[in-house]
Amino acid sequence: MTLSILFSQDKIAVSVTKEGLMKTTLYQGNHTFTVENKEKLPPKSDEVRIKVAYCGVCGTDVHIYHGVMDKRVNIPLTIGHEMSGIVDAIGAQVSHIHVGDKVVVRPLDSRGEKPSDKGFSHICEDLKFIGIDSPGAMQQYWNVPAFTIHKLPEETDLRLAALVEPLAVACHDVRLSRLKKSEMAVVLGGGPIGMLVAMVARTTGASVIISEVNQTRIKLARELGFTVVDPGVENLIDFVRSQTDGHLADVVFEVAGVQSTVDIMVDIAGIRGRIVMVAIHGQPKSVDLFKFFWKELQLIGVRVYEKEDYETAIQLITENRLPFDKMITAVKPLDHVQQVFENIDKHPDGMKILLDCQV
Ligand SMILES: NC(=O)c1ccc[n+]([C@@H]2O[C@H](COP(=O)([O-])OP(=O)(O)OC[C@H]3O[C@@H](n4cnc5c(N)ncnc54)[C@H](O)[C@@H]3O)[C@@H](O)[C@H]2O)c1
Ligand SMILES: [Zn+2]
Repeated sequence: MTLSILFSQDKIAVSVTKEGLMKTTLYQGNHTFTVENKEKLPPKSDEVRIKVAYCGVCGTDVHIYHGVMDKRVNIPLTIGHEMSGIVDAIGAQVSHIHVGDKVVVRPLDSRGEKPSDKGFSHICEDLKFIGIDSPGAMQQYWNVPAFTIHKLPEETDLRLAALVEPLAVACHDVRLSRLKKSEMAVVLGGGPIGMLVAMVARTTGASVIISEVNQTRIKLARELGFTVVDPGVENLIDFVRSQTDGHLADVVFEVAGVQSTVDIMVDIAGIRGRIVMVAIHGQPKSVDLFKFFWKELQLIGVRVYEKEDYETAIQLITENRLPFDKMITAVKPLDHVQQVFENIDKHPDGMKILLDCQV
């Protein structure tokens, strides 16, 4: 806090400016967020302080709000990890990052990595997810370890850059699927992640079908030029067969996370089809393993992203070749955090809701 003395004509005004304070949101448990002022801390020697521009609300943030992750989350906690911002201060040991750089954060902290991780630090045993296991980005300023930073080109739109994190998930999923031109992919579930998976899958030159049951999301997917099937209206297996001369899909992305999509994924995958398990299944589900034997299917697990997926996502966002702006349904002030989460429950049709962290 600084004290400044202003001389104006015949009187002396003393004003207290709160430039050392910042706004932060805190998840308090029990479906509740508070907005509070707290001291803006200098970055530690290996840290960077970011003036957060936008922070998107992820499905995981909604799970936290619903209380299902209360055992893992250290309440009260500032959550959020889908962000963009500008470097505001750097620690003494930090090089190659400068005040004023536009940046995003790859919110994985693998400092507890064990030798058994075979170099795949993004899925190491002791992985901590920043914004769930430690304070996140739904605040005006955010101090993070410098190794999490990815710089953005100067021309990057910071609103779109808040999509880099979920887009990197999609880049990872498509990369591990080995999808190629001339192949056909089916995306089961056209939520934010499924829609981004479909967009990235299409950049390979492959043809892409989305299966979705939500009418608003079906409409959006069609506006984005995708062939969309509502499995409640049309037989998805027959449709995929009709589109592939009976060969069925080369790649199936399971991004809905329900038993019915787990049932159908093995039916719509053709001979030696690859099934990519994107959805997080909190509970075991039944799978028809006979179909894996019969068609020599492959199941590919995918979790978050690696450095190169972030780099691909940043390039896609910077080039703005894909209709990412259509993914952003609303931008709301940070102060409205409680209302934003309540509204997501009332209107689950929306895609990405961003918090504007500077208003
Ligand atoms: N692998 C990873 O690292 C990773 C990262 C982020 C998210 N995820 C997971 O990806 C999944 C998708 O995330 P999201 O944010 O898009 O979730 P979401 O719940 O918004 O999207 C799921 C979509 O599936 C649709 N759906 C439901 N039943 C269906 C059916 N029978 N057929 C077709 N579609 C159906 C829903 O209408 C919804 O639009 C979640 O399980 C999430 O936890 C995984
Ligand atoms: Zn996320």
